[in-house]
Amino acid sequence: TQSPVTVTVTGAAGQIGYALLFRIASGQLIDSRTPVKLRLLEIPQAVKAAEGTAMELDDCAFPLLESIEVTDDATKAFDGTNVGLLVGARPRAQGMERGDLLEANGGIFKPQGEALNAGAADDVRVLVVGNPANTNALIAQAHAPDVPAERFTAMTRLDHNRALSQLAHKLGVSVTDIKKMTIWGNHSATQYPDLFHTEVGGKIAAEQVEQSWLADEFIPTVAKRGAAIIEARGASSAASAANAAVDHVHTWVNGTADGDWTSMGIPSDGSYGVPEGLISSFPVTCSNGKYEIVQGLEIDEFSRQRIDASVNELAEERDTVRQLGLV
Ligand code: NAI
Repeated sequence: TQSPVTVTVTGAAGQIGYALLFRIASGQLIDSRTPVKLRLLEIPQAVKAAEGTAMELDDCAFPLLESIEVTDDATKAFDGTNVGLLVGARPRAQGMERGDLLEANGGIFKPQGEALNAGAADDVRVLVVGNPANTNALIAQAHAPDVPAERFTAMTRLDHNRALSQLAHKLGVSVTDIKKMTIWGNHSATQYPDLFHTEVGGKIAAEQVEQSWLADEFIPTVAKRGAAIIEARGASSAASAANAAVDHVHTWVNGTADGDWTSMGIPSDGSYGVPEGLISSFPVTCSNGKYEIVQGLEIDEFSRQRIDASVNELAEERDTVRQLGLV
């Protein structure tokens, strides 16, 4: 029998948590053979609600779910963890400046980084979902010096999946006909969904759509989809975000298909002119449980400007958290 995987979910009582936990417990995060031990981390006021979710998880009688622990203690939550899904974050309150937001999130991601450093399993993989995801990942990573830096990732898979669907609708194809989609940069409105390397039926996607659609519809629709969901649903994306988190970890562990790649926010090694250390989204292939940045792509002027704009925003966020002493 397969040895179990310990998965820690922070913000477990939140709306993404509610959509995520049942997917994990049913075996969709790793595979359908690996038993799961769940750890639910919440703030004290939300522990009771998380316990309610734990009762429902129990009531599903999932064959793979070995145990569920609910706690408000990060050290306990991350002890021995193999996968850390850092979903809980401080939302932007009305009138809050970016600096205040980053500082508030520092109060969450610094102690969680320290707890990961102290107790996580040697093979730990961390996905930060809570916004601002890229810079929250940077903060956690800075406080986990004993965990290899590349284990800290931020989620841009939802943006990637949104881009796949938008393009599929436009071309009247199935999402499975689309290969090599890329999201570059920050998980924010500056992100750049790139169709210049995307293939549909073996041909470059950017050449199959009007330039005006690409620039004036596709890019803003993908980048502002989160706001459009809030507008329509009266609440932010939750099930689609949970789905993307499952996809991110599943692909990281199980690999990308031959001839395809995915998008992940990962520490830059300096590829494509992205300053080393920034946690930025790149096209990556995954195999044997590791990811690698796709190399050698030609970046034209149109793409260069957009990648640079998003990367500059990441650099500014890093400078802010540096000034705050958070990294
Ligand atoms: P939510 O507000 O429903 O839930 C957040 C939960 O986190 C709350 O239950 C709260 O008590 C908990 N929490 C706060 N501080 C915590 C701490 N220190 N430790 C443990 N738990 C803590 O929010 P929702 O909708 O579940 O979203 C969570 C985050 O995910 C938000 O920051 C949101 O912006 C982000 N998000 C990111 C996406 C991405 O593509 N990267 C997509 C959608 C949402």
